[in-house]
Amino acid sequence: MSEVSEVRENSRQLTLVLLHGFPLDSRMWEDALCELGTEVSAFAPDLPGFGSSPPLPNQDEHNASMADYVEAIRAMIESHGITEPFVLGGLSMGGYMALEFAGRYPEKVSRLILCDTKTEADAPAARQLRLRMAEKLIRAAATPSSCNPIVDPRTAIAETMLPKLLSPKTVDRHREIVDRVATMVLGTDMLAIATAQRAMAHRRDTRDVIQNATYPIDCIVGEDDELTSPDLMQGIVNAAALGRLIIISEAGHLPPMEQPKRFADALRKCLTSEQ
Ligand code: MLT
Repeated sequence: MSEVSEVRENSRQLTLVLLHGFPLDSRMWEDALCELGTEVSAFAPDLPGFGSSPPLPNQDEHNASMADYVEAIRAMIESHGITEPFVLGGLSMGGYMALEFAGRYPEKVSRLILCDTKTEADAPAARQLRLRMAEKLIRAAATPSSCNPIVDPRTAIAETMLPKLLSPKTVDRHREIVDRVATMVLGTDMLAIATAQRAMAHRRDTRDVIQNATYPIDCIVGEDDELTSPDLMQGIVNAAALGRLIIISEAGHLPPMEQPKRFADALRKCLTSEQ
């Protein structure tokens, strides 16, 4: 988990909260936050069940909702002493949660930074895929490993997701990034993945959050992102009263890991923006 601290701008203090993607953890922000150095830092928690965070309180992997995550995130933010409105950023799943958070607590948000994410709910086929994956994980988690004939579903998840998460350029040139992403996926608790999958499967359309926002909305996206393309994110910007798109070259769905310096520059631009 990254440290809490502030961005100082014109003697005002801003706090940046960053929510990570699926099925990863807060380590995905590490390189970009390092690039920002002491100039900017952020509170980047492991979301409930991921990394070193405990599961959702009363976790029910069958019925958790985005609202449950938002309440847990709100509690984490409060317990870190963040009381003033803050800049809220999220990547992909973290973006879905950031949007749900902003819809519920608009008064707490001074700016939204949406990275490689979307506002639409799942189409029925995508929802079914998520629910099937969640069932497999719940079954595998309930089977003792000593008598487990089931192949660890996280291996299949890593194999299927990795080529979609990373730009082909990253896969060709940066095996170490491929390995780090795979390590995170394979190390994530199976019930945490199942719980988040089910919550995402049932998430609502959040276009109203963009339309109603009175604060600036920055969108950052990798140019090679095939899950949430620059065109898709341009749609969010078009719907926002105060929107802007920043495209990160030579990155796919995970610009903070693939191009940490460019991503840090983009964050800096958002945080020091007049808009
Ligand atoms: C992510 O990167 O967080 C995922 O692509 C989100 C999703 O599965 O929709």
